[in-house]
Amino acid sequence: MGSDHKLADDLSEILITSDQIAAKIRELGETISRDYAGQDLLLVGVLKGAVIFLSDLLRSITIPVSIDFMAVSSYGAATKSSGIVRIQKDLDESIEGRHLLVVEDIMDTGLTLHYMLENLASRRPASIKVCALLDKPSRRQIEVPLHYRGFSIEDKFVVGYGLDYAEKYRNLPFIGVLKPECI
Ligand code: IMP
Ligand code: MG
Repeated sequence: MGSDHKLADDLSEILITSDQIAAKIRELGETISRDYAGQDLLLVGVLKGAVIFLSDLLRSITIPVSIDFMAVSSYGAATKSSGIVRIQKDLDESIEGRHLLVVEDIMDTGLTLHYMLENLASRRPASIKVCALLDKPSRRQIEVPLHYRGFSIEDKFVVGYGLDYAEKYRNLPFIGVLKPECI
């Protein structure tokens, strides 16, 4: 990899542009602001993939809101889910009696979110809902409720806007499909 290597050269196509993402996030922010008006809303970002989505979504929300983060591992550097989920960083705050909105980059098999939702529910929040920027419904192995969805996509491995392959490509400002030779 030379110093003139551009990340975007590793993509076979751009699936979702920055403008499309921005427009979708404005819509989601309006809906969430309306749905949670007058409630104690806590966004729970799933590290690391959701950080960019969460930071933009947060600024599109017009009601009072707090944020916290959780890190779970299920993938490692591979592109297939192991089904094994482990908490690597837990929330800082108590969530008892609060309205949680879990923010994910992408829902794939659903295994990660299924585990997280069970774990969070045991801490007695007032409610839990899920917001994912991307959804790959054809890959689902377990039924998980998805209340706010950005885009539904085909079964392709995507990177950018927070999503990585082996920890790279998160900084692309749009979502693209990796060329097979880069995987
Ligand atoms: P799940 O447990 O299979 O639903 O996996 C969810 C996690 O897998 C996401 O939060 C991503 O970190 C990762 N993931 C799933 N599909 C992709 C993809 O196409 N690109 C990058 N990461 C993905
Ligand atoms: Mg992730």
